[in-house]
Amino acid sequence: MSQDIENSITQAVLAKAGQGADPRIKQISQALVRHLHAFIREVEPTQGEWKAGIDFLTRTGHMCDQHRQEFILLSDVLGVSMLVDAINHRKDEGATQSTVLGPFYVDAPPEAPLGADIAGSMRGAPLLVQGSVRDAATGQPLANAIVDSWHADESGFYDVQKLESFGGLCGRARFRTDAQGRFHFWTVKPSSYPIPDDGPVGDLLKAQGRHPWRPAHVHFVIFADNHSTLVTHVFEQGDEYLESDVVFGVKHQLIAPLEQHGAGIAPDGRRMTQPFFRLTYDFALAPAQSQQAA
Ligand code: BEZ
Ligand code: FE
Repeated sequence: MSQDIENSITQAVLAKAGQGADPRIKQISQALVRHLHAFIREVEPTQGEWKAGIDFLTRTGHMCDQHRQEFILLSDVLGVSMLVDAINHRKDEGATQSTVLGPFYVDAPPEAPLGADIAGSMRGAPLLVQGSVRDAATGQPLANAIVDSWHADESGFYDVQKLESFGGLCGRARFRTDAQGRFHFWTVKPSSYPIPDDGPVGDLLKAQGRHPWRPAHVHFVIFADNHSTLVTHVFEQGDEYLESDVVFGVKHQLIAPLEQHGAGIAPDGRRMTQPFFRLTYDFALAPAQSQQAA
């Protein structure tokens, strides 16, 4: 009898899962059943292992709130976020490569003028970020593009992880590119950091023998009329975690040097009394029609 069920259950569930009117729901539901059953047939879990899996997903859900999205973290460490991203940017030829958004983005961050110092109470060596935004197809500069940027400081934390000790939002802002598509701002040099690993995703990483670290980076989301929104980071060249980013987010094109400069007049004219770092990066955005998956 149980042999009969083992042989027939997948077909029985597939037939039920295909009854709705929406063809995309049917496709997704049936693929889910096929792959999930194949996984179970391969792994042959004991009843105890099956329960441990249910407990893991339950704890993952309980860990989620307004500030913490453990399911996205799970998707990130299993490489699913990067796979979805890759599928959705197949046609963005010539455009700057995208990577994960991560959980620390804030919608509509505070606007700041070009050249502003956004470090607030963040600690670390001064960093000058200079960039430009252009159309990937024509190379034309994109004026008035919106550039949102955010990063961790030398302690490895983002403002939103420790709002009280940072005294509010800092190390993040929204800028608008000038007529030549350029932007620049001052902040502090970010460091590598571990993703939040005090929940079920951290337990999974430990069980898999993995570390929770991401290489140092500065995040960018860039919006320009008639262009695909670019979600990306620039990673610090030479970081020890570039080859083992826990969320698989590093792409070769997104690695750039943080040049060291001595005290003196900085490239934007600011007089610096201490040494500083400088990051420059030119971003190219794909025209909007190339956004869909192939
Ligand atoms: C981040 O870069 O902010 C991030 C990305 C994925 C998971 C956790 C953090
Ligand atoms: Fe980050």
